[in-house]
Amino acid sequence: MKLEILKVGNDGEGIGYYNNRPVFVYYAYKGEIVDVNITKNKRGAYEGTINKIIKPSLHRVEPKCPFYGKVGTTNLMHISYEEQLRYKKDFVKFHFDKNLKEDILIEDTIKSPNEFEYRNKITVPVRLYKGKNKMGLYLRNTNIFFPIRHYIIHQPELDEAANDALLLMDKLNIEGYDDQKRSGYVKNFSIRVNEKGEIQFTFVLDKDIDLTKLVSELVIANKNIVSIYKTINDSRTNRDLLGGKLIKLYGEKYLKMTLNHNVFLLTPDSFFQINTKQAETLFNTIIKYGNFKADEVVLDAYSGVGTIGTYISPFVKEVVAIEIVSKAVEANIEANKINLRTNLIPLVGDVVEMVSKLNRKFDVMVFDPPREGLKEEVLKFILKQAPKRIIYTSCNPETLGTDLKVLTKKYKIDKVIPLDMFPQTSHTESITFMSRK
Ligand SMILES: C[S@@+](CC[C@H](N)C(=O)[O-])C[C@H]1O[C@@H](n2cnc3c(N)ncnc32)[C@H](O)[C@@H]1O
Repeated sequence: MKLEILKVGNDGEGIGYYNNRPVFVYYAYKGEIVDVNITKNKRGAYEGTINKIIKPSLHRVEPKCPFYGKVGTTNLMHISYEEQLRYKKDFVKFHFDKNLKEDILIEDTIKSPNEFEYRNKITVPVRLYKGKNKMGLYLRNTNIFFPIRHYIIHQPELDEAANDALLLMDKLNIEGYDDQKRSGYVKNFSIRVNEKGEIQFTFVLDKDIDLTKLVSELVIANKNIVSIYKTINDSRTNRDLLGGKLIKLYGEKYLKMTLNHNVFLLTPDSFFQINTKQAETLFNTIIKYGNFKADEVVLDAYSGVGTIGTYISPFVKEVVAIEIVSKAVEANIEANKINLRTNLIPLVGDVVEMVSKLNRKFDVMVFDPPREGLKEEVLKFILKQAPKRIIYTSCNPETLGTDLKVLTKKYKIDKVIPLDMFPQTSHTESITFMSRK
């Protein structure tokens, strides 16, 4: 049937209406008229599959990727980059309007220096596919494997290293996993590249196997590789692929990531912003508008390997950083020695439990939580301590909006800057600067 797309949803999907019920049409954009087949998805909602675009949006462009429409990640590739930036600004604005009484000005989205080939880390499935080892992606919303050699948003060095490893696995008869038969060994590659092109490579195995020969040949075949790990994950459902014991097989313990002369030390399981150049913009923007003063004490909550705290610490008296992954905190302590930071104190723990126990008074609190946003206990703690300023970096405008609804009881919003960390996708990052009313 013919459907007019009236808006765009949280997942970048177009939304039209049939019998007063929303129809979610992936890869359609607002303003378009599309011919669709409507089916009910698993949750009972209507989904439309495009047969034909009858009236295209003025912003529609030819997607550059041959897998567009098959895999879910790059779900905004059919609209121009300028429009993607507008979509992200509007998305943030939508959640501010939904939750806040005041009309808040949202700045224009800061564009990413790279529209493509920006991802510095990939975690891809590996399968024995038609007799050869392949890496791949999953078809949208399924666990159906789809082989690829290069994906347009990956930094090319990552896919080169993956393809080198696949060739050697074929040569050495090390089989990728077969999820039907539950045979084979290598289930995933997790690969990260730093700003110099150096690579940390992790083999995720279904069951243990000796990789000595593979490792020694791989480091000869690919000179970028400086560190190799393996980990065993025999669960069919566990999505935390790197949650088990990591065993170093070659080279450096850490991959060194250097941003604006600050060194960050990464193990395979620690979080790092996915777009290296745009991570610099994020941290520099926090410094630019953070208005930090030499006598201030700052909390950096959800601190990862200490990125934001490392940037802020030269401008203030002290930064206390809290992070739940102990290896990331160890890495932060190590990096402090290299970066000559004596006033950045990294602590291991759950922010939710730690904040009330800390017994410290903070002038500024910086938050960069996962998608779930801040828990009720954390919000209560903030309102009770009432620091002078709050800086909230968010990768989810939905939870940002509901958290701000609570925080604006005591805080006014000074500046909101969306920043594009994930071009071609609907993921939206933003920084909100607040001060006590
Ligand atoms: C979005 S990342 C931000 C990391 C860091 N600010 C950066 O930019 O690199 C969120 C971090 O919060 C950590 N985390 C998640 N839940 C946590 C919790 N309850 N308490 C402390 N840290 C947590 C994750 O391990 C991750 O490192």
